[in-house]
Amino acid sequence: MTEPLRLGIAGLGTVGAGVVKIIRQKAALLEARSGRPISISAVSARNRVKDRGVPLDSYAWEDDPVALAKRDDVDVFVELIGGSDGPAKAATEAALRAGKDVVTANKALLAHHGQALAEAAEKAGAVLRFEAAVAGGIPVVKALTEGLAGNDITRVMGVMNGTCNYILTRMESAGLTYDQAFAEADGLGYLEADPNLDVGGIDAGHKLSLLAAIAFGTQVAFDAVELEGIGRISIEDIRQAADMGYKVKLLGVCQMTGRGLEQRMSPCLVPATSPLGQLEGGTNMVVIEGDQVGQVVLRGPGAGEGPTASAVLGDVIDIARGTRVSTFGQPAASLELAKPAQTATPAPYYLRLILLDKPGALAKVAAALGEAGVSINRMRQRSHDQNTAPVLIVTHKTTRAALDNALAAMVGTKVVEGEPVALRIEQV
Ligand code: HSE
Repeated sequence: MTEPLRLGIAGLGTVGAGVVKIIRQKAALLEARSGRPISISAVSARNRVKDRGVPLDSYAWEDDPVALAKRDDVDVFVELIGGSDGPAKAATEAALRAGKDVVTANKALLAHHGQALAEAAEKAGAVLRFEAAVAGGIPVVKALTEGLAGNDITRVMGVMNGTCNYILTRMESAGLTYDQAFAEADGLGYLEADPNLDVGGIDAGHKLSLLAAIAFGTQVAFDAVELEGIGRISIEDIRQAADMGYKVKLLGVCQMTGRGLEQRMSPCLVPATSPLGQLEGGTNMVVIEGDQVGQVVLRGPGAGEGPTASAVLGDVIDIARGTRVSTFGQPAASLELAKPAQTATPAPYYLRLILLDKPGALAKVAAALGEAGVSINRMRQRSHDQNTAPVLIVTHKTTRAALDNALAAMVGTKVVEGEPVALRIEQV
């Protein structure tokens, strides 16, 4: 019999337990597809006695994931601990130093240390795969590194945080406030332990930075992602967007321009009839544009036991088959240090402001826009009975820099209360 591929699995949460279940339940299928059996030698987690709904007695137990990573009977270290540093990083580094291949679902680890880990993997002759880190069950890393490798990628866009998409969808479909939809998502267990990873756009920004590295042959530059979360989106924004034929989505966009690499993750308005506009609930979507292929749209579950374990198994089977692809699709030494560029592609913007209801206030706002070269396309002031007036403005195409100048000038007029909400209307 061909030698089995022996795994050491660190982290037995939802995904880890899911991986163990698939390996137990689908042994024959996995062997047939891999050309060799896939076995588990040892596992590691914080709590040894917890019932995870799957028998673990036949596997060796390690309290320390670093010890697991270095075991002689482990060929592939499967890192499902999470976190950008701490035990996940220590164990991954130990595994690579020991020449083990690594499969991880850890977007934060790769977003912060991807280049160093890719170099460590190559130095050791090991592979480091991370399909499960981006958009859950959607095989987008494989699509970019393999199926679309013959293209110059021109743009990658994605809705890659199911929790945010769930919150925004529930605000729209059930008329919930942001706080109500957030509480509902929390009750369903959708939120990360640190909810700001989700609603602050950080988790999705991590994913975008990994796709940008593959798409443009650049070193991962998470710190250069322009990040904005969904916390300031109100039911009013959702309703106004719908009224104009748009949906609000936490959208990631990356593209290489003459000025450098643009990466942004922010709430945007997208046409309601577009594939991105139609995305409901926790589902993810990634849109890839290549010079040869045109536009490819991948849609699927972005989280959860089955989808994420499915992505982990895809990487494990590749390794079992002998497929050895560089971490970011090309040798780490050839990845360029990208010059970060602020988004300069002009677009229309949606603005929501609270104006003090006094003579000349609206004129001051219009002047601030006009002086910054921003032209108004549509404007609406809601009827109101307090001493402030909600005003909605849709601009003609403008740059973010011009808009920021206008917004700064508006604050100086002292007729705008609080910080205006500004959402890009993205052509998708
Ligand atoms: N919290 C993420 C989401 C899944 O809601 O999509 C893990 O990245």
